[in-house]
Amino acid sequence: MANQIVPTSPIEGQKPGTSGLRKKTAVFQEPGYLENFVQSLFDGTGGAAGKTYVVGGDGRFFNDDATRTIIRMAAANGAARLIIGQNGLLSTPAASNLIRKNQTDGGIILSASHNPGGQNGDFGIKFNAANGGPAPEKITEAIYARTQDITQYRIAEADAGDISTLGSYKVGDMQVDVIDPVADYEDLMRELFDFDAIAKMFAGGFRVCFDAMHAVTGPYAKRILEGVLGAAHGSVINAVPSLDFGGGHPDPNPVWASELVALMSGTDAPDFGAASDGDGDRNMVMGRDAFVSPSDSLALLTAYAHLAPAYAGRLSGVARSMPTSQAVDIVAERLGIPCFETPTGWKFFGNLLDAGKATLCGEESAGTGSNHIREKDGLWAVLLWLNILARDGRDIVQLRRDHWRSFGRNYYSRHDYEEIPTEAAGALMSALRANLTTLPGSTVAGLTISEVDNFAYTDPVDGSLTENQGVRIRFEGGSRVVLRLSGTGTQGATLRVYLERFEAPGGDHGQDVQAALAPVIEAAETIADIKTHTGRDKADIIT
Ligand code: G1P
Ligand code: ZN
Repeated sequence: MANQIVPTSPIEGQKPGTSGLRKKTAVFQEPGYLENFVQSLFDGTGGAAGKTYVVGGDGRFFNDDATRTIIRMAAANGAARLIIGQNGLLSTPAASNLIRKNQTDGGIILSASHNPGGQNGDFGIKFNAANGGPAPEKITEAIYARTQDITQYRIAEADAGDISTLGSYKVGDMQVDVIDPVADYEDLMRELFDFDAIAKMFAGGFRVCFDAMHAVTGPYAKRILEGVLGAAHGSVINAVPSLDFGGGHPDPNPVWASELVALMSGTDAPDFGAASDGDGDRNMVMGRDAFVSPSDSLALLTAYAHLAPAYAGRLSGVARSMPTSQAVDIVAERLGIPCFETPTGWKFFGNLLDAGKATLCGEESAGTGSNHIREKDGLWAVLLWLNILARDGRDIVQLRRDHWRSFGRNYYSRHDYEEIPTEAAGALMSALRANLTTLPGSTVAGLTISEVDNFAYTDPVDGSLTENQGVRIRFEGGSRVVLRLSGTGTQGATLRVYLERFEAPGGDHGQDVQAALAPVIEAAETIADIKTHTGRDKADIIT
């Protein structure tokens, strides 16, 4: 097989963010853009020679072309074997599982997660390490460093082959195994959950609606929920992955999953609603007319995980990202297990999971997962919920109400200000950081600031320090505001403002969330001087 060695030069801005390298699709289509990054990925991880990788993506526009380029580059770089989802499709959690199950050297996942896709949308690529989790910072740094001094890339002249048919073939010396994207994942879910109990619940008339948002989870949910567990035909909606997610925004939150929200508040609403994102790692769950916030979901799953066979008596600890509400901390305390607070991004959970320090993890951004893989897992969260509901008997709204009565309620919301000029966002954060020591003691919107810090995290396993992860403002009485800039956007900067207020057991848990948070919202806007810095009166997205 002939390999081409193509001279190239560094392309600016190929620095992986919170979750891989994400750019406009058109940027990825520029000559050499993807090739430079993939070659840097191989070079920055000690070369591809003799290695095995899992490759797959969420099916968005350019997924197919990119998969073919990666096949030809892996072959030219001497890789031994690629395991590829049929048609280049793999959900992020399924890819994580395959990396672990086959003990590969890692995986290349093509996705920009919940960002819109299509010719005018976003594309992304991320590298997962041999433990199945997002590459830790020292690896992404090495890859980035390579993008800055790259001089050539290698690509096979041969065709990438047929990835639409199950089976194996060779590209030069490299073996390509095209596999069923769902089968191994389905096996894993069977091991974790009480499928009989869930099937019995469905047979008894329990109705579910799963909105796959035209993204990769469609085939997974269809096979497992409808095929294996017997949910009614049509329970999974928008189940066929499309190049641009049906023109939508595949982010499972009440704003973007409005079709599901409308269905769940209709007169004939199903008992349980759920949605997942572009690459299948996020989840949203709902009861009738009730959105369960991801922070509450994490707390409730932790409290009831013992009802699933895999977790009964096996919770070593729980971890949440810093901006996630503190609802799960209260559950962990009552269970007598540790609760870790990590920076935003799934990669920080990896060490805790590998070391057996945490069993469940979650983020306020609709991410929940466990030690079964090293990524968050949308359908897993839905199945754990179904398992809990099947075994407990209460409906999800009742279960949550009872939980608040016993543990208290952490009212919680996130306000996003999108596409603000990068300098303005930087100035807002610098001004906050400059006031860390002067703010405590002052009263804003009737709330007295007790503590302010710039979150830094020392990994309890490897001792690595990650600084500058968001400004935390605590108020007397337990309310909290967190401000940080997004690391996944592709245009300008996104300011995320996370708002939280605790209402103790016995308090009023039935308030409207934004109303309950009104003083905290006002305090956040005033302290950070959001209007002056951004020129915005209100947030673009409130979840
Ligand atoms: C966002 C979420 C974060 C999540 C990441 C990848 O990152 O906030 O929790 O891990 O997407 O899905 P951000 O844009 O805030 O950096
Ligand atoms: Zn995702």
